[in-house]
Amino acid sequence: MRKAYIAGNWKMNMTPGKGAAFASELAKAAKDAGADVKIMVAPPFVTIPAVIDALKGSDIIVAAQNMNDHKSGAYTGEVAPEMLKDLGVNTVILGHSERRSYYGETDEFINRKVLLAIEEGMDVVLCVGETLEEREEGKLEEVLSAQLSGDLMNVSAEAMSHITIAYEPVWAIGTGKTATPEDADSAHAFIRSFVAKLYSSDIAENLIIQYGGSVNASNVKALMAKENIDGALVGGASLSVEKFLPIITYNK
Ligand code: 13P
Repeated sequence: MRKAYIAGNWKMNMTPGKGAAFASELAKAAKDAGADVKIMVAPPFVTIPAVIDALKGSDIIVAAQNMNDHKSGAYTGEVAPEMLKDLGVNTVILGHSERRSYYGETDEFINRKVLLAIEEGMDVVLCVGETLEEREEGKLEEVLSAQLSGDLMNVSAEAMSHITIAYEPVWAIGTGKTATPEDADSAHAFIRSFVAKLYSSDIAENLIIQYGGSVNASNVKALMAKENIDGALVGGASLSVEKFLPIITYNK
């Protein structure tokens, strides 16, 4: 059985003060509501320490939205995995489409970060997904295959238990357009079968695949009802308790 895994990617929102206040409120609301899914939040780097402090005693995981592909050195403005681990952060989101499109991250670069994260003993949420143009040109499977094989190059079978895949169609991110549960499920099924080919059917069967792209309180149930959808990576609707609580309690 794959345990549902719901994550909030805060993107460039929430100062340390706001993030801490929100995280405390969220932890209390999740506990009171008896939320029984794996929950993660990914604040901006500078907000992470305040959120970790606010979430002491809670099961909510605190992740980073990115990290550098080197262990240390002259990389001005960057953050190394060891710095995250020192804070108690053991999970990192890599390959988000906003990093790919705004900051030119390639599959080769993302792969270096995935390998470093694994070497450092961290868990990775690896984002993949196609643009609208690619989908309309019938290239969905081609794009997903290239991203998965590039991003997971040299990742061992043993390390795959530390990898979660987030399928985030670029055209559904922040647009209010969600993939239909059927479309999302079929992309997830493709990802699972591709991972089975790269690794084994056992690894594919245990792989958690989150859907991301305008997930909200109204569509989460139908998405999560699909066989291959094991969780959600939520942007906009993860920024208030009012919007995020119904998502993390979709099964209540
Ligand atoms: P939205 O939920 O705002 O569409 O963002 C999705 C996303 O990019 C999560 O990483």
